[in-house]
Amino acid sequence: MTERTLSMIKPDGVSKNVIGDVIRRFEAANLKVIAIQMRTLTKKEAEGFYAVHRERGFFSSLVTFMSSGPLVALVLEGEGAILKNRSLMGATDPKQAEAGSIRADLAGSIEENIVHGSDSKESADFEIPYFFSQLALNG
Ligand code: CMP
Repeated sequence: MTERTLSMIKPDGVSKNVIGDVIRRFEAANLKVIAIQMRTLTKKEAEGFYAVHRERGFFSSLVTFMSSGPLVALVLEGEGAILKNRSLMGATDPKQAEAGSIRADLAGSIEENIVHGSDSKESADFEIPYFFSQLALNG
């Protein structure tokens, strides 16, 4: 089934100059970039995006990190895009991530883990419109 998913190249990925490396992996796996945007989130915006994690011990550190500099948000489209993107990213903790995955190759820590990807259709339905208006998604 053709799906859409929200990806972010986080501030660590932007500062490590690996935007192109990450997007190349998406494209090589037949995920199409249908919308893209670079921006620096305010703390409030980062808190809103990660609201499901607000009770977690790492929440405030995560929000500080995610608002520390520019990130790149993308909408990826393709067959089974949500799961495919999750497998390209690898496990949240780069030490557990599968060899050859984005996080195994590029990430420094469980928090500064280079990329985010929607974990379900429900998450994608919240996360895509968080960044992109209907008009921006018309291709
Ligand atoms: P992400 O896939 O964007 O979803 C939530 C984010 O919280 C995760 O990637 C990490 O950046 C961060 N995160 C998850 N678990 C931890 C943890 N144990 N310690 C610090 N940050 C975490």
